[in-house]
Order: sequence, then C-alpha cells, then structure tokens
Amino acid sequence: MKQDMILILDLGSEENPKIAREIRAMGVYTEIHPHDISAETLSALPGVKGIILNGGPNRVVDGVSIDAGDAVYQSGLPVLCADHKGEPAFPADDAARADVLHRFVFDTCKAEANWNMENFIADQVELVRRQVGDRKVLLALSGGVDSSVVAALLIRAIGKQLTCVHVNHGLLRKGEPEQVVEVFRDQMDANLIYVDATDRFLDKLAGVDEPEQKRKIIGTEFIRVFEEEARKLEGIDFLAQGTIYPDIIESGTKTVKAVKSHHNVGGLPEDLGFELVEPLKMLFKDEVRACGKALGLPDNMVYRQPFPGPGLGVRCLGAITRDRLEAVRESDAILREEFADAGLEGKVWQYFTVVPDFKSVGVHDGLRTFDWPVILRAVNTVDAMTATVEDVPFALLQKITARITSEVKGVNRVLYDLTPKPSGTIEWE
Ligand code: XMP
Repeated sequence: MKQDMILILDLGSEENPKIAREIRAMGVYTEIHPHDISAETLSALPGVKGIILNGGPNRVVDGVSIDAGDAVYQSGLPVLCADHKGEPAFPADDAARADVLHRFVFDTCKAEANWNMENFIADQVELVRRQVGDRKVLLALSGGVDSSVVAALLIRAIGKQLTCVHVNHGLLRKGEPEQVVEVFRDQMDANLIYVDATDRFLDKLAGVDEPEQKRKIIGTEFIRVFEEEARKLEGIDFLAQGTIYPDIIESGTKTVKAVKSHHNVGGLPEDLGFELVEPLKMLFKDEVRACGKALGLPDNMVYRQPFPGPGLGVRCLGAITRDRLEAVRESDAILREEFADAGLEGKVWQYFTVVPDFKSVGVHDGLRTFDWPVILRAVNTVDAMTATVEDVPFALLQKITARITSEVKGVNRVLYDLTPKPSGTIEWE
C-alpha cells in the first residue's frame, strides 16, 4: 500500500462518512471501522497515522455509553476524540471544522497527502492480481458507472482472465448496449459476452401492469439469464462486483441502523458459489467516477445519471408494449440530447421521460389524432430520499416538446412533472 491512512472509528455519528470524505479531499486516505476494532485488525491495517473517534448524539446506545476498545488507546497512535462526554462533535461551521481536521491530520499525525487515483489504481491492480492469480473472474456488466469502472480496472489488472457478461433486457436507453460493446470489446479488447434477451424479458412482462410485479420479473429473469451464461463458462472462481463504499456504510454498521435496504434489481444473489472481487468497495461515488476517468472510460459513461435496474420498464407505465417502450426510449434520447446541448448534462441529477398507458385527442395536419402523452421529469437530490424539481427554462421545454411531438411515433402531447418528492417519488412506478 502506498498511502497513509486516518482511521475513523464509528461510535454512531451519522457524520462519519462526511468526515471521511473531507479528509480524503485533503489527499489523505480514510477508512471507517467499528468502534470495537480488535488489536489484530488495527495492526493489520496498513499506513494508519491516527484515529478519530466520533459518536455525536448516537454515542449512547440503549442508554449505555459506548467507547472504543483498549486496542485504540494502547496503540500509541494519535487519537482525536471529537465528542468527549457527549459534547457536540466538531465546530458547527464547516471552515472551523476543516481547520480542526486539517491540523490533526497533518500536524498531529504527520500524514502525507498521498491519496490519489494513480496510487489507488496501482494498489488495486496489485491486490487483484494477488487475489486472483491465474484464475478466472466473471462480471455482470450493466454499463452503469460502477460495473463499467470495475470492468476497466480488472481489464487492466488481469486482461482476458476477466469475462464480462452484458445482458440487454430490452429496457436500456437508446445507444447503451451498443456503447458497452464498442468501449469494452472494441476499444479495451475485453472478453465480452453480449446477450440480447429482449424478447425473453418482454414475453415474461406481457400483460403485467403492477409495478412491483414488473420489478420482480425483471430482477428474477436477469439472474436466470446471467446464471445460464455463467454455467456455459468453465473454470470461473470469482465474481466481480461494483460494490462501493456507500453500499457498505448504508447497509448498516454496529451503531447505525441501515438507512435503506437496497432495491437492487440487476443485483445478484450472494450464493452463486463464487469468491467476490470488489475493487471499488472503499470508494465514494465521485471517486469511482474519477477512477473511471483515470482508466480512460468516456465521460458520458463515467458521469452518467443514475438509472434504475428495471430500466425503461418502470417508465413505460402499466403493462409494457413494444410501441410505447420505443416511445419512452426515443423521447428519452431527445431529452438527453437537448439537456446536453443546453449544458445541463451533469448539472441536473436525474432527468427522463415517462409514457403512461392512456391516450388523448390531438390534431395533426388538420386531422384528429388519438395518441399517448410523454411526461418529462427532471429532479435534483442529494440522497434520492427527497427531491426538488429542476427549474428548466421554458424555451427549452418548448423545444423539447416540439421535437418529441414531431419525431416520436404515437405521441401528440408533452407534460412537465412539477411534483417534488414527497409527494411524488422520482420514478412513476
Ligand atoms: P424513487 O422513485 O423511489 O427513486 O423516488 C429513487 C431513486 O432510485 C431509483 N430507483 C431504482 N433503482 N432499482 C434501482 O436500481 C429500482 O427498482 C429502482 N426504483 C427507483 C430511481 O431512479 C431514483 O434514482
């Protein structure tokens, strides 16, 4: 390992991830561990220069005050006890807090600011090679940020010992499956198995209009297709996954309850019988993007907005039909193009189109039409638990409306969704 590390011990403060990020932003690597870390685990962690204990109001669990174990106090490492006896953790204002952290990290611990992507990638390449040896690894490559960055990293580490499987469930955005093949097979020369399972998914979904039922079918079918492909391959020992640090933090530590359970359609069950390779598991999302960029992935892959596992399936409302699905895909492509032209790409958190399963009357070349509406949605959020609606310039909405009503088959009307979350969710289903 090439980096110094500041260890944050979790005594229940919800601020720990933020502190971890702030110190990483100073160029020093951080990890969050449980408060009762053992002496063995502590001494096995490479490069630890100092320890921060931070509990905040959660430091008292079920009426009992918790503290770090003896291992911490006997380690001889500098300890910043940020909230002794239940006092507020750090100075409330951000600048004062950054100053406290900065002085602890650099003056007290004498840590070096040597955390950067080149070192991270070099370390991970070495660790993966050590873990995998000359054996083989399988990856479900969805084309989303996390799985794409895992693929790029593993291609650098072990080349053709990695097999990527890209399952196209027919519910991806326009151009996405093509880009996965182009980037990974053509440019990076990866072993890539491309499975077009569109018909299989749409057949299973035919006539199903209940949103959770749709999600379940898509999730289950995804695992089936992936397992079928995995079974055709021989001698695979490892499964690579795009687990990232917030997944680990959010799934709950000893003192913090799980923030939310992951409705991770497109995720795989844990009992596939493989050992896991998870090279991004210590990275925050923005660091994953920086890693992807450093590995040469295109910007539109690395800075892509979140996209739900069930894809366009939950934006083609009610029972999915091929013609309405195409209307979602085409209108979404137009929206994305226009947002990019207007400089909004990467600035608005999530934006997409929805096609409901009812029609309205319109007029075209003097003739009556009876077609679907397209609903536009553009929202901003920090954690997807609440969201505000983007104030899209009216002229841009008009331009998008004109393009969608003239270019997308079967659509005669465009609506803009003004609903924040709550009361609406971000998706319509
Ligand atoms: P909602 O609609 O719950 O969405 O406000 C919050 C965020 O989660 C995404 N989302 C999903 N992601 N599988 C996913 O992987 C799903 O079933 C799913 N449903 C919603 C949604 O796009 C938004 O970013």
